[in-house]
Amino acid sequence: MSSPTEAASERDELARLAAHIQHHEAAYRRGEPEILDSEFDELVDRYGELADRLEIDVADRVDAAPGADHTDGFETVEHKVAMLSLEKLSPARKDSAGAPIPLGEQLAQWYARRKKELELAEDAPLPLLVEPKVDGIGVSLIYQGGRLARAVTRGNGRTGDVITRQVQQTGAVPSRLASVTSGELEIRGELYWPTSAFEAYNARLKAAGERLVINPRNGTAGYMKRKEPEGLEETGIQAFLYQVPWAEGVTLPVRQSDILDWLAEQGLHVYLSEAHRATDAADAFAYCEGYHPRRAELDYEIDGMVIKIDELKWYRRLGETGHHPHWGVAYKFPPERKPTRLLDVTVQVGKSGKLTPVAHLEPVFLAQTTVSRASLHNFGEVERKDVRIGDTVYVEKAGEIIPQVVSVDRAKRPPDARPIHRPKECPVCGALVVEEEVFVYCPNPACPAQVQERLEHFASRAAMDVEGLGSKLIEQLVAAYRIDKPHQFFTLTADQLARLERMGTKSAENVLAGLERAKGRGLARVLVGLAIRHVGETMAEDLARYFGTSDALLEFAARYAAGDTEAVEVVAPEKGTGAIEGLARKTADSIFAELASPQVREVFDGLRAAGVKVEAVLERRVEVEGVAGKSFVLTGTLPTLKRKEAGDRIKHAGGKVSGSVSKKTDFVVAGEEAGSKLEKAKELGVAVIDEAELLRMLGA
Ligand code: IVH
Repeated sequence: MSSPTEAASERDELARLAAHIQHHEAAYRRGEPEILDSEFDELVDRYGELADRLEIDVADRVDAAPGADHTDGFETVEHKVAMLSLEKLSPARKDSAGAPIPLGEQLAQWYARRKKELELAEDAPLPLLVEPKVDGIGVSLIYQGGRLARAVTRGNGRTGDVITRQVQQTGAVPSRLASVTSGELEIRGELYWPTSAFEAYNARLKAAGERLVINPRNGTAGYMKRKEPEGLEETGIQAFLYQVPWAEGVTLPVRQSDILDWLAEQGLHVYLSEAHRATDAADAFAYCEGYHPRRAELDYEIDGMVIKIDELKWYRRLGETGHHPHWGVAYKFPPERKPTRLLDVTVQVGKSGKLTPVAHLEPVFLAQTTVSRASLHNFGEVERKDVRIGDTVYVEKAGEIIPQVVSVDRAKRPPDARPIHRPKECPVCGALVVEEEVFVYCPNPACPAQVQERLEHFASRAAMDVEGLGSKLIEQLVAAYRIDKPHQFFTLTADQLARLERMGTKSAENVLAGLERAKGRGLARVLVGLAIRHVGETMAEDLARYFGTSDALLEFAARYAAGDTEAVEVVAPEKGTGAIEGLARKTADSIFAELASPQVREVFDGLRAAGVKVEAVLERRVEVEGVAGKSFVLTGTLPTLKRKEAGDRIKHAGGKVSGSVSKKTDFVVAGEEAGSKLEKAKELGVAVIDEAELLRMLGA
């Protein structure tokens, strides 16, 4: 147990970690990771550890599984039994003297605790089952009378989205169980994309000049949220099933190992040949350790192993925390890391002109693919690590797609190793570079590399999501029609498109349809698409919500850039307290200077003329007195409103919604089964209200 002061500082750390995780997740989704995958995993591990200790509800955690968010347009249903996570054996865990606890010992401790809880003698048998932990997205299947009635995502653990048609279309699970014809049961497992199928699918996308799927796990999550399931059978997405959390009117085996056999008999895919029944913790651990080399032989990515107590009769007695059950634990593989030689370093120009050093490597087989290029992040990093051409470097790929150079083996440095210098000129347009701390920039917005990158970014999924408009096609459009500003996409004709190499009338129509659909995405996504420095997803949404229209935004930017003191004060009197949360003066200066430029105005004029929506899709906030500017925390189950809905309404009225109670909280809205947050509110003397009172305050 933590003391109240420790808990308060842990909560602060948790909030900081959450902000970091969300920031890096967004950066990763934009394809611009700023830290190593292994560093990201460390953040998540530390967050998980703290969140467990503080008993943060799954629905409030940021380390939920990918695809955790509800997607608009999908029906949401409640899981009969919460879909929790697993506790992890973590290399970061330390003993009271600060020394790391070896994973084998952590497992032995875990095992001994379970025996104690079950009141078993230390030497009593308690067999375990070890299964691979495939890196996919959790799925829950409901079978009624032996027929698949519903497939649901894990969602936030309590509620998930219905994806029955999508799952059925993949063919990954049978529509009927082989020998069950009555009763009802739930089967849980993991949807995943086998490596070979994923690569084949990406190869097809590449041949068609379309954007590639970034990685199998996020790809699976994305495809399962396709509104129209047609074509999903071509992805090759599969499922492994491993659990039956409840059943009514169906007789089941009493051991996890037999459940796997039973599931296989019913026609479902299971790990069967990869699972191992272990006599004790040492045996289970040896199997996990011995499994490393076998990963390379598998046609799917696994990020670890799951160790479960085999006898199901103990599960209820062992219980769970709000985050994980006590009957199982996860063993995570360390990220695969291999040495190879650094052959050369080239410089890549990003959309905002950032020059990134790219390592060219002697090809090395790593985590299922051959790696010959890796990121060196920035020139500051190259200097810090003192990387030289000819060096032997270690490359890591923590289950993700972008490999990274993590360290240098100095002992192996050949005498002719060449230092890497910061470029003085842009390698593409020759402009003299500008240096900003660890970064080097090409300052020429007309630089052809920047133009291509910016156009690609505008069409990308994170921004306007124009289906069919991939990098190849953009390259052709730039070459053929000198397109260099995003609004020009929208004036393309079917004829112009069809005339391009490898394009036909049908593909041209598809691209035009993609552009047509993109027109309605709204101001926030347009802003993301313009690749303005410091304007990521969250900032774009804040700006769109605050200004509502591009006219209001640009007019304001012009005033701000002209030094209008009133404008400066409105938006950023000081960090964190301005009208736009967290907008610091320096950031505001940079953002509004770019927004005030004639180039940006030209793009907005062009977009508007082409019929692109340049207003916020979210309604403008209608500030409600008593709610605006106040900070709310929601806890427990509210009688009529879903938590998200209540949160949206508060935000719409100008209030803030936070995940944890502090002295700065103005109101805690408590529903049924409100737990520690309610206690914290009472402790701090924060006002506690119910849903009816909230609705009254909102004027509903
Ligand atoms: S058992 C309480 N077995 O890993 C959840 N999970 O980090 C118990 N996973 O949510 C799940 N392979 O999505 C279990 N053989 C396996 C698994 C497995 C992959 C996923 C699952 C779970 C996550 C936990």
